[in-house]
Amino acid sequence: MTQAPPLSQQVIWLTGASSGIGEALADELAPRCKALFISARSEDKLRPLADRHSNVTVITADITDEESLRGAASAIEKKYGKLDTLIANAGTCEYVDVTDFDTALFRRVFETNMMGLVNTTAAALPLLQKSKRGYLVGVGSSVSMLAMPRAQAYGASKAAVAHFLESMKADLKAMDIDVSLVSPGFVKTPLTDVNDFPMPMRISAEQAAEEIVKGVEKRQWHIHFPKGFTRILWFIGQLPAFLRHRVTAQMSRTDEALQQQGKRQIKQQESDS
Ligand SMILES: NC(=O)c1ccc[n+]([C@@H]2O[C@H](COP(=O)([O-])OP(=O)(O)OC[C@H]3O[C@@H](n4cnc5c(N)ncnc54)[C@H](OP(=O)(O)O)[C@@H]3O)[C@@H](O)[C@H]2O)c1
Repeated sequence: MTQAPPLSQQVIWLTGASSGIGEALADELAPRCKALFISARSEDKLRPLADRHSNVTVITADITDEESLRGAASAIEKKYGKLDTLIANAGTCEYVDVTDFDTALFRRVFETNMMGLVNTTAAALPLLQKSKRGYLVGVGSSVSMLAMPRAQAYGASKAAVAHFLESMKADLKAMDIDVSLVSPGFVKTPLTDVNDFPMPMRISAEQAAEEIVKGVEKRQWHIHFPKGFTRILWFIGQLPAFLRHRVTAQMSRTDEALQQQGKRQIKQQESDS
C-alpha cells in the first residue's frame, strides 16, 4: 500500500467551513497543508477565512445540490488535478417533538446529513482516486453511540453516516483510499448555542479542531472526543437494553410536552366556553 502523503503535501476540501467546527478546522488545517478548499452556502462568511490564509480557496456549494458540488470538484480538478483529502463536515441538527410529529423535519435532516455526505462523496471520489492515497473523512456525532430522546432524526441520520463510512471503508481499501469517522461530543458552535438542555463536557470549536487534526494526521478510523464524554456514552450504549432504556427515558421531555399540551387544551376549552 502506498504511504499517505504528509499534510504539507496535501490538497484538502473541507465542507461546512463557514462556522463552528469547520471554521476552526480551516484555521487549524490551512497552515499545515498545501492547499485548502473551503465550502458552504454562505460565501460572505467564507471570505474572511480565505483572507487569513494564502493557500485557502473559497468554493460556494450546497451539499444538497449535486450540480453545485460537481462545480466545486471541477474547480479543484482544474487547479490541482486531484484531491488528497475530503473532510465532509457540513451538517445540521433539528430535534423531534413526538407530540407534534413532523415528517418534513426528518426529510430536511436526512437530506443534509446523510444525502449531503453521499452527494459530496460522489463529487469527490473521482478526484480522490487520483491521489496517491486518498482520504475520506466524514463528521458524524457521538449521539450515534446511544439512541437519545428527541434524536429520532438527527441521531438516526448520524447513525446512517457512521454506517455509510464504515461500509465505504471496506470497499475503498482496494482503491487505497482511507476512511475516518469523526464523532464529536458537545462542541460550542452556533448549532449547539440554541440548545436549551445541559451539555456536559462541552468543548470549544478550537479544541474540537485540534482533536480532528490529530486524528486526521494518523488517519485514525474513529476520531471521537472529548474522550471522557464519548466513553461514558459508549458505555451506556453497551448496557443491556432494559438498563439503557431506563437511562434514556429519564432524559425524555414527552411528559413535560404532554403536560403543556394539556394546559393548552384546558386554556382552549376555557376560552371557547
Ligand atoms: N457542535 C456540536 O456539538 C456537534 C456535535 C456532534 C457533531 N457535530 C457535527 O459537526 C458538524 C459541524 O457542526 P457545527 O456544530 O460546527 O455546526 P454549525 O456551526 O452550524 O456549522 C454547520 C456548517 O455546515 C454548513 N452547512 C449546513 N447545511 C449546508 C448545506 N446544505 N450545504 C452546504 N453547507 C451546509 C454551514 O454553512 P452554511 O449555512 O453557510 O451553508 C456551516 O458551515 C455537523 O455535521 C454537526 O452535525 C456537531
